[in-house]
Amino acid sequence: MLGRLNHVAIAVPDIAAASALYRDTLGATVTAPQQLPEHGVTVVFIDVGNTKIELLEPVGEASSIAGFLAKNPAGGMHHVCYEVDDILAARDRLKAAGARVLGDGEPKIGAHGKPVLFLHPKDFQGTLVELEQA
Ligand code: CO
Repeated sequence: MLGRLNHVAIAVPDIAAASALYRDTLGATVTAPQQLPEHGVTVVFIDVGNTKIELLEPVGEASSIAGFLAKNPAGGMHHVCYEVDDILAARDRLKAAGARVLGDGEPKIGAHGKPVLFLHPKDFQGTLVELEQA
């Protein structure tokens, strides 16, 4: 069921500053910022060859990233995203195994225009897990 690592996401308080750090200091290519109101974030992606880094900045007070940054003001690793072939089959299998799917349990369209789901960090060793249909 589990496919390749699509990205590692890092929550940041200032996406312009974080993008400049990756571009200018680390020499990476950073995509243009993309606002995802449904997810309460602005994102950029950095392709590092074998996977991507996603930088997340909160949009709006209700953003889950805002809560994360309140506890981690400098930013920090927020989630890992794995690819799956069939997101509904993956969801049903995980639910049957007792894992909790966040939100209403229905996939939303993520930053790559593909369906995504998030799994409760308490069910995955304290790590928020995103699944994306490849
Ligand atoms: Co993500």
